[in-house]
Amino acid sequence: MAGRRQEIGAAVERILASGRFLLGPELEAFESEFAEFSGHRFARGVASGTDALRLTLVGMGLQPGDEVIVPAFTAVPTVAAVCAAGLTPVLVDVDREMGTIDHRAAQQALTERTRALIVVHLYGRPATIPDIGVPVVEDAAHAHGALGQSNSVAVAYSFYPTKNLGGLTDGGAVVTNDAALADRITALRTHGRSEAGYYEAIETNSRLSEVNSAVLRIGLRSLDADNARRREIVSQYRSASPGMHWPPDHPRHVQHLCVVRVPERDLFRERAPFETGVHYARPVTHEPAYRRFARDPCPHAEDWARECVTLPCFPEMTDSEVDEVSHGLA
Ligand SMILES: Cc1ncc(COP(=O)(O)O)c(C=O)c1O
Repeated sequence: MAGRRQEIGAAVERILASGRFLLGPELEAFESEFAEFSGHRFARGVASGTDALRLTLVGMGLQPGDEVIVPAFTAVPTVAAVCAAGLTPVLVDVDREMGTIDHRAAQQALTERTRALIVVHLYGRPATIPDIGVPVVEDAAHAHGALGQSNSVAVAYSFYPTKNLGGLTDGGAVVTNDAALADRITALRTHGRSEAGYYEAIETNSRLSEVNSAVLRIGLRSLDADNARRREIVSQYRSASPGMHWPPDHPRHVQHLCVVRVPERDLFRERAPFETGVHYARPVTHEPAYRRFARDPCPHAEDWARECVTLPCFPEMTDSEVDEVSHGLA
């Protein structure tokens, strides 16, 4: 960690000396390294994970009134991004075991206005992608390093500081194999200004800074090792408490959040000798601002929200901290 801090300090000094703080060589280098890491041709850094989703949807040419199918159990920003793009989210139920979008519910939500579907790789576990004949956008805010190839249009990442790959401030990226979409996002992130200098879309700005890009380049080098440490921690918890209701594991799960389901969740949290969290306390269908986007009931999303508990899981945890949680679970 001390080494990483020194590297970040040196990178900040380098950027200060260069006088180039936005849209410079650090961003360019990060985009090329992150594209390669994710197995895509292009990466575009933007200001947040929410913007990575929003600009992807705008860049795909979706228009007001178009519908985007979204799981009802996710972080609110997945759905906020759809609304911020001027589109209509359609919230559907999630799979009972996995907590990720339920394929049948997605199929049933199709209408003549459906233009896209967002799959969320919840907690860092690669979700299966429904094939319902509409373009798919992947929300990988939890899933840096978890994903293989897919037929999606693009994958959106968040670099919020607590993510598996986190920056010093907000940040995000879109990765895609679609050159035209990548070019549109390049224009959209700078007020809609095309390479030829014309303003071809009405947009704000959405940029990943040079400092953040440099920090992410440093983090990227240890991402696989950090993810392996997360998996090791979770595997110890699972062995310590095999009777708990663990969601099915996956070999590429990167354990952004280590979540177990406990029917008496609040009592469990009160008694736990370690800190716990809840991701997420309500399905999006129960959030006042988003209720109106629910069409069909989402009972599995409600069950997840009622029972999910997040256990401590960070690559920086010491063995004795992990042992303490394991004993507390046993
Ligand atoms: C699943 C999911 N999608 C999208 C986002 C939005 O990312 P950001 O906070 O970088 O805008 C988050 C953030 O926590 C998230 O958890």
